[in-house]
Amino acid sequence: MNKKNMDTAFFGQPRGLSTLFFTEMWERFSYYGMRAILIFYMYYAVTKGGLGMSQTTAASVMSIYGSLVYLASVVGGWLSDRVWGPRKTVLFGGILIMIGHIVLSVPGKVAALYCSIAFIVAGTGLLKPNVSDMVGGLYSENDRRRDAGFSIYVFGINLGSAIAPWAVPWASEGFGFHLFGNHTNFHAGFALAAIGMFFGLLQYYFGGKKYLSDDGLRPNDPIDKDSLNKVIRWIIIGVIIVAAIFGILAFFKQLNIENVITLLTIVAIGLPIYYFILMLNSSKVTKVERSRVKAYIPLFIAAAIFWGIEESGSTVLALFAQDRTVLHIGAWHFEAANFQTLNPLFIMILTPFFVWLWDNWKNQPSAPNKFAAGLIFAGLSYAFMALPGILFGTSGRVSPFWLVGSWFIVEIAEMLISPIGLSVTTQLAPKAFQSQMMSMWFLADAAGQAVNAQIVKYYSTKTEVPYFLAVGIVSIIFGFILFAISKKIFKLMDGVK
Ligand code: PHE
Ligand code: ALA
Repeated sequence: MNKKNMDTAFFGQPRGLSTLFFTEMWERFSYYGMRAILIFYMYYAVTKGGLGMSQTTAASVMSIYGSLVYLASVVGGWLSDRVWGPRKTVLFGGILIMIGHIVLSVPGKVAALYCSIAFIVAGTGLLKPNVSDMVGGLYSENDRRRDAGFSIYVFGINLGSAIAPWAVPWASEGFGFHLFGNHTNFHAGFALAAIGMFFGLLQYYFGGKKYLSDDGLRPNDPIDKDSLNKVIRWIIIGVIIVAAIFGILAFFKQLNIENVITLLTIVAIGLPIYYFILMLNSSKVTKVERSRVKAYIPLFIAAAIFWGIEESGSTVLALFAQDRTVLHIGAWHFEAANFQTLNPLFIMILTPFFVWLWDNWKNQPSAPNKFAAGLIFAGLSYAFMALPGILFGTSGRVSPFWLVGSWFIVEIAEMLISPIGLSVTTQLAPKAFQSQMMSMWFLADAAGQAVNAQIVKYYSTKTEVPYFLAVGIVSIIFGFILFAISKKIFKLMDGVK
């Protein structure tokens, strides 16, 4: 038995897991707390404490923001591997995230919003992929506690994500005391998000010193001078290209948020395509590995569609909660932002059942079939949301249980796709591209949200029925296509279950 296997201080798991658990719990608390109120902050009138943007732009910014956060994980993973090692990278990330929330804690204009977004995108890109990576690093290869360790870690993610949509809106509504009169003081909410990240940083800093391995203080593949120069050259070229594009847009008086969002959408969809081409053509990839990468393409597309629907919970469904939903059950009143708790809550409720199911189902479906079923459930969660409009029209308000039902259905989909996708991604990864493949899992979410940034523009109360139906049906059709080709995909996976 080596040292790693002996540490059982945290629910039978290594003590370092507790540090990473609470770091990510607080980070997700700050992120999802902020997201729960951000869309309203953007489009509420200035007199009501908001920025007065249009609802469509607000939803579009929310989506591209969510996309960029996971797109940035590519950079965060690289910096950890080649430059700083995970421990420092996560620390820097946490600090940037906290600064990002602080920027919104004080009254400001749209410029402050974009500044905050920049900090949080960079910070989360540094932090998130590397915390998960360190969880894996707590276990030696043959340690059987690994899967359980990841389950506990994911529980931390969802715990933070579930509490935040109560705590943060509660702060912005004056802590139950109507401190801000009938106003919403969004800044108080963002301040609470900053405080949450601060707690995360504190215990990461002190806990990490004691319980995380010093190996994480160094990059595992330190960059040499030549490569560094090459990278710097590419960065300079990149900056010039971006400056040129912005210059051209400005020259034609087209430099506006919509066009910037469209450019970012292209980047978020282009990057995974680039990676696939790179992996399929690399001489470092063996024949079997190439076949596995091919198998991953349809799974990636499925994941992107699924995440598109799942992530629309904080845009489309948030708007539905605010504009179309009765915000009380009997005498119990709540905020539209509180609905964001449902996603992580259902994950926590459903996880034990699915763990039991996969442990006991003898001839269980293959990963591609689970994905296919997931897409069908995701589509159904949308089709379900078309019903209130069809049945009662779209001018009044409907029961909150429509949203509860829709979230329940989409979380079944999440159970069929998220944990399975994560493990399939690592197993299908070519040896030479292990960490890039991990990034691909984040990029699936980024691509889904990038598409959202374009299509949410068509969502409004007037268009909700066709919107939910159209997106829902696309997902269901893809689900059936995936079912039809699942045997082929399974063959390409070449032995991976
Ligand atoms: N809710 C997930 C999380 O917070 C979203 C996500 C999915 C992020 C896939 C990264 C990759 O972890
Ligand atoms: N659904 C969010 C995530 O997958 C909370 O963890």
